[in-house]
Amino acid sequence: MSAQTPATRAPRVTTETLRASKTAGRPIVMITAYDHPSARLVDAAGVDAILVGDSLGMTVLGYDSTLPVTMDDVVRATAAVTRGAQRALVVADMPFMSYQASADTALGNAGRLLAEGGAQAVKLEGAGPEVLALVQRMVRAGIPVMGHVGLTPQSVNTLGGYRTQAKESHAAAVLIDECRALEAAGAFAIVLECIPAELAERVSSLLSVPTIGIGAGAGCDGQVQVFHDLLGIGEFTPRHAKRYAEVGEVILAAVAAYADDVRDRAFPEEAQTTHVAARVVDEAQAASTAARRKRGGGR
Ligand code: KIV
Repeated sequence: MSAQTPATRAPRVTTETLRASKTAGRPIVMITAYDHPSARLVDAAGVDAILVGDSLGMTVLGYDSTLPVTMDDVVRATAAVTRGAQRALVVADMPFMSYQASADTALGNAGRLLAEGGAQAVKLEGAGPEVLALVQRMVRAGIPVMGHVGLTPQSVNTLGGYRTQAKESHAAAVLIDECRALEAAGAFAIVLECIPAELAERVSSLLSVPTIGIGAGAGCDGQVQVFHDLLGIGEFTPRHAKRYAEVGEVILAAVAAYADDVRDRAFPEEAQTTHVAARVVDEAQAASTAARRKRGGGR
């Protein structure tokens, strides 16, 4: 990867860039990242936006849902990602209970993601009256907000599982209302997760802000996917994800080869080794032995 000076670096993608992409009919590419090396790679690959998703609870921390993820988890991951991403817009997820309990705490937590994490925007789930009021307040405070409706994993216990949402016309009408309300509240984009493609396409045509789909068909203004799902690192691949590589297999083979080499004394090789004259080591041993004897020790 080439080191770019500020003068040659591509300009940062902004919320305005995403809106212009929608207007131009240019699909928006978003992917998750949770650490510095993956952020550098996805940024160098030219994605438009990086989501520091609370999916990190499942992909990286080994939880079976996103609910245990804390503000500190997301702030630390966001800071690592923003140190690695020079061009992509970085959006940080607000974890479960970081915005539901009190509006003042929610604003403070969103502020942390920008001030400490270096994110350019935050994402929160749902479109109930409290969330809509929060979106308005955050936007007024200078914090761009991405909405998220459909399957909202933080509500898995009220949704009854991770399944496609809004399949009936009443639920679909509610979802359309939610998207319109989020747009009116000032959200700059909306994630549509696991809803039928026909509904996602219709919603996308009704809104002036971009929709970013995951499991919502090809008619959205952009797509977001989880890094580990695309690369074959996760334990399972959801139906909406396509595996573009089998990086898990590559890692397994590489680490097994390393283990074999260590056990066979084939690693390290000369190329990974530094030498000094034997005299230096002899003198070091003599000095150490003399010091031990002076302290009353043995050899
Ligand atoms: O946390 C996450 O990765 C997400 C995406 C699934 C949109 O919210």
